[in-house]
Amino acid sequence: MESIQAVRGMNDILPDQVGWWQEVENAAREVLENFGYREIRTPVLEKLELFARSIGESTDIVEKEMYAFEDRNGERLALRPEATASIVRSYVQHGLHADSAVRKLYEIGPMFRHERPQKGRYRQFHQIDAEVFGIDSPMIDAEMMHMLRVFLDRIGISGVVLNINTLGCPECRKTYREILKDFLTAKGDQFCPDCLRRRETNPLRVFDCKVERCQALLESAPMLIDHIDEECRAHFDAVKDYLEKLGTRYVVNPRIVRGLDYYMRTTFEVITDRLGSQNAIGGGGRYNGLVRDLGGADVPAVGFAIGMERLIMLLQQEQSEKVRMPRFFVAGLGEQPRAAAFLLVQQLRGLGLEAEMDYEGRSLKSQMRRADKSGARYVIILGEDEMSRREIQLRDMQTKTQRILPLDNVEDELKQLRD
Ligand code: HAM
Repeated sequence: MESIQAVRGMNDILPDQVGWWQEVENAAREVLENFGYREIRTPVLEKLELFARSIGESTDIVEKEMYAFEDRNGERLALRPEATASIVRSYVQHGLHADSAVRKLYEIGPMFRHERPQKGRYRQFHQIDAEVFGIDSPMIDAEMMHMLRVFLDRIGISGVVLNINTLGCPECRKTYREILKDFLTAKGDQFCPDCLRRRETNPLRVFDCKVERCQALLESAPMLIDHIDEECRAHFDAVKDYLEKLGTRYVVNPRIVRGLDYYMRTTFEVITDRLGSQNAIGGGGRYNGLVRDLGGADVPAVGFAIGMERLIMLLQQEQSEKVRMPRFFVAGLGEQPRAAAFLLVQQLRGLGLEAEMDYEGRSLKSQMRRADKSGARYVIILGEDEMSRREIQLRDMQTKTQRILPLDNVEDELKQLRD
């Protein structure tokens, strides 16, 4: 019978890969919690309207990439394409702003976008997402980017560049929108039909266009960063100043407009030149109006998300394999020794030592082959002879040496071999 394949663009993370994921997740939790972030877990399904209202009706994400459907009751739902909207929804729904202790939140989990799959771009992908509520100070924008750098250093990622920009406030954008619109109109229909439509609905989104010709035309477009007001400029200058004080290197890139509508003022992306066209490892920015727009208090906010697939691809280019191996493999030969091996394996696990065995009673040769394949550092051999002498053979697979140990109180000896 024909076998069933996974949905296109959705990947299994197999056991030989999962070590990378665990390492990245553990490091993320450690760094985030050290900076005062607390975990939140929101559902993967939300009302469609949540994303339309926050990310923006005319963004590619909402227009083209959402997994949206009606459920059995006719309710319009969508798989989350990102975490920010869901976290804001939860923050508002549970009145979290009333608790001043809850200001920094993070979430790790799968997101869904119906994009064309390619290297580094999937339909189910994973994000590490961090959000801060209630702090308008440029200090927190800088701290967040600094934290991102600390995290990347911790897991050993190098060669990525922090690109920063400012999108000003809605007021600055209103002025700029007209300037950009004039520029687009002057170029007439040299732009693609999508861009011509964007010109009318949401001109800033032309910068998301993937058509080369449009990108080339935009080279000479007026930039938002040249049209921001004094207050927004002062905020941006302060962010840069704090980044410098923290020793966090960055470049100002006026093209970082981000593909989501909710941003204002600071935006940033961490970019690599090692993953081809999918070059953003993570991105984020400030979104002061969103909590209010989703029915909450007028609370400023800033956040970012890292794409785990891209991060791990980059790590794998830089570091060698990371496969999890048991510390011990216990080979029992004959019925009684096998039962003793079974008990010894449980004992070792009880001591926090990872142990594995052959449950099927194969020959010594095939058990040794399996032990070798498992990558275990030590193999314990229990045969009839050893049992009658109440001994075990301990083989060190690395040094290829062997020792005899008494079976009783063997735990104390084995505990020494923890690492
Ligand atoms: P975003 O730039 O859309 O931002 O996504 C953040 C990161 O998720 C990207 O830099 C990329 O690494 C990864 N990513 C996005 N789409 C895909 C995909 N199809 N396949 C693989 N990886 C992908 C946001 O999602 C915002 N919510 C970030 C944020 C949080 N802003 C404020 N708070």
